Amino acid sequence: MHPVIERAGMAAELPSWAQCRPRRREHGVRVGDLLSTWATGLDLPECERIRWRAAGVLHDALKDAPLTELHAIAGQGWPDPVVHAPACADRLGADGVEDRLLLEAIRYHPVGHPDLDALGEYLILADFLEPGRSGGSGNRARLRELLPDGSAEVLTVVVGRRLRRLLDKNRPLMSCSVDFWNRLVRE
Ligand SMILES: [Fe+2]
Repeated sequence: MHPVIERAGMAAELPSWAQCRPRRREHGVRVGDLLSTWATGLDLPECERIRWRAAGVLHDALKDAPLTELHAIAGQGWPDPVVHAPACADRLGADGVEDRLLLEAIRYHPVGHPDLDALGEYLILADFLEPGRSGGSGNRARLRELLPDGSAEVLTVVVGRRLRRLLDKNRPLMSCSVDFWNRLVRE
């Protein structure tokens, strides 16, 4: 396991290049802890539990970086509100992290992608359902109770809500988000 992943997964430590205010850092730790709880609930081995926790701790590590910097790292095609995700994945890759599925989980966590594996799907769920999020907390608690076993059902609720919000604002959808949604509702 790469030392950056090990430190994030075991000690909730962010790499030195992280640009992440304290409240955001706390959000990342809560997402990581929720992923860790679900990994245990799914009987995953200890190394996977650490890896899942690391994905949560790290997923927003660059979210407070300037947009120009994020777009320079991530390249074209990413809207401002989500560009922190591919930038973080690319920065981890530049550090030598070769765990492709963990990098893809981080890269696509705000938008979804049809090729995401279980970690990618549970990261989307944990980001939305972590207990520190304000607003609709009763509803979030009810959805959390269905996890980790009812992930397909809850994912449809969470992703559907996110897409509906964009549609209501007449905002564009990324094609990977549409393909992800189609996969979820066809399964
Ligand atoms: Fe997040």
